[in-house]
Amino acid sequence: MIVSLEPATGDEVWRGEAGDVDIAVGTAREAWFAWAAEPLAVRMELLRRFANVVRKQADAFAELIARETGKPRWEASTEVEAVIAKVEISIQAYAERTGMKKLDSALQGTAAVRHKPHGVLAVLGPYNFPAHLPNGHIVPALIAGNTVVFKPSEKTPATGVFLVACMHEAGIPEGVVQVLVGGPEEGKALVAHDDIDGVLFTGSARAGIAINRKLASNPGKIVALEMGGNNPIVVIKTPKVEDAAITIIQSAFTTAGQRCTAARRLIIVEEMYDEIVEAVKKLADRIIVDEPFAETQPFMGPVIDNQTAELLMESFLALLSRGGKAIKHMTRPHDNLPFLSPGIIDTTDLEERPDIELFGPLLQVIKVPDFDAAIAEANNTRFGLSTSLIGGQPEDFEKFWAAARAGIVNWNRPTNGASSAQPFGGIGLSGNHRPAAYYAADYCAYPVASTEMTSPRASLGVGFSE
Ligand code: NAD
Ligand code: SIN
Repeated sequence: MIVSLEPATGDEVWRGEAGDVDIAVGTAREAWFAWAAEPLAVRMELLRRFANVVRKQADAFAELIARETGKPRWEASTEVEAVIAKVEISIQAYAERTGMKKLDSALQGTAAVRHKPHGVLAVLGPYNFPAHLPNGHIVPALIAGNTVVFKPSEKTPATGVFLVACMHEAGIPEGVVQVLVGGPEEGKALVAHDDIDGVLFTGSARAGIAINRKLASNPGKIVALEMGGNNPIVVIKTPKVEDAAITIIQSAFTTAGQRCTAARRLIIVEEMYDEIVEAVKKLADRIIVDEPFAETQPFMGPVIDNQTAELLMESFLALLSRGGKAIKHMTRPHDNLPFLSPGIIDTTDLEERPDIELFGPLLQVIKVPDFDAAIAEANNTRFGLSTSLIGGQPEDFEKFWAAARAGIVNWNRPTNGASSAQPFGGIGLSGNHRPAAYYAADYCAYPVASTEMTSPRASLGVGFSE
């Protein structure tokens, strides 16, 4: 039995039985041939209808996401908008990246490149964007002609069920896209199932690595892993201290820090340290943390559950006990609810900073002597998802861009808020070089090269006797 609870109140949102993996995969396999054989125009039209169904139910959908994740109502609406926008972006990306190309030559016939779907794909989703991120795999997978078994996070099943119901309401056959409610056990069983052709995963590095390991001896299966980060935001000389502070706050604390692209490490050159830290602290003091539907809308809701809140509080205290200096203490006003105030801690003097993703509103600050040291510190991680440089001149950004080891490298913009119209992925422990968003088209279909003639025409070359 899977039960999801509203983080802000502890009330039950949804309950249901875990799904049957064999049945779901068998159903998807049966549905595949007919779906792949549909003209592309039909698949695109059904996805466009799906976008319209979501548009009509946008308020109810946003309300559900806000209840189930705890994110503020305004922010849940932006997630629904992203779900809708994904359809047109994916149609464009399919045509641009995996469309058909033909080269005609009068003598040698035609050389063609076309793409085929893989077959049955498992999509595993995280809780922080329970609709937008799995949707970012599902929509391109369906357009390309795959069928999908989608397992939402066990923490946000209701959102997954709602998303797939919208697809069915739009006329996409039930066997073509199914929701399989469950936890890691169902996820593991899906990954291990002989009859899936690939796994499109968004979640933690821990689970992603386990999936990679499981499928290592099966190179025929497509595996796209979108994982976490320990993302640096670097500040060098800038007169725009207030703007820099806003960008830092947005990077670190949007969605209560529960974004894979959230800034976890604020690296500041010595000459800017005092001004930036003071401005960031002042703004952090003004952040409203409240339940998603509060009349004065908060900037941050709670984190996803009590266990996560406890872990983050413990992490803050562990950093303190190892020599960190609190700039702003993380606090937990209710023992039985996962609301946290944003925590900011200077960890410059720690002998070893743990290179792990602390998935919540916890920002470490590191003082460095100069820009070169800042770049070295930014790259001092096994992850490589997102990074941002604040301040400097174009030549500084060029240098930063060239040195930064990440899939997203921004300048004077937040580390988060990635665009669906660009590739979205990272290196190191952040991904396996199969970026999602605009480039999702690439892993949803494989290219087939053909040379073709309407009738056989051949001539013998050298090496034949008379
Ligand atoms: P998670 O790894 O715990 O779970 C993700 C999904 O995988 C869930 O559906 C879960 O049930 C399933 N799962 C867990 N262990 C599994 C296993 N061994 N085999 C198969 N399936 C398994 O992640 P989460 O806590 O739900 O989400 C937060 C994480 O997601 C953070 O690390 C965050 O950085 C990451 N994330 C990454 C991106 C990205 O695009 N790079 C986007 C959003 C979130
Ligand atoms: C995320 O996918 O967790 C964040 C996306 C973003 O805001 O960049």
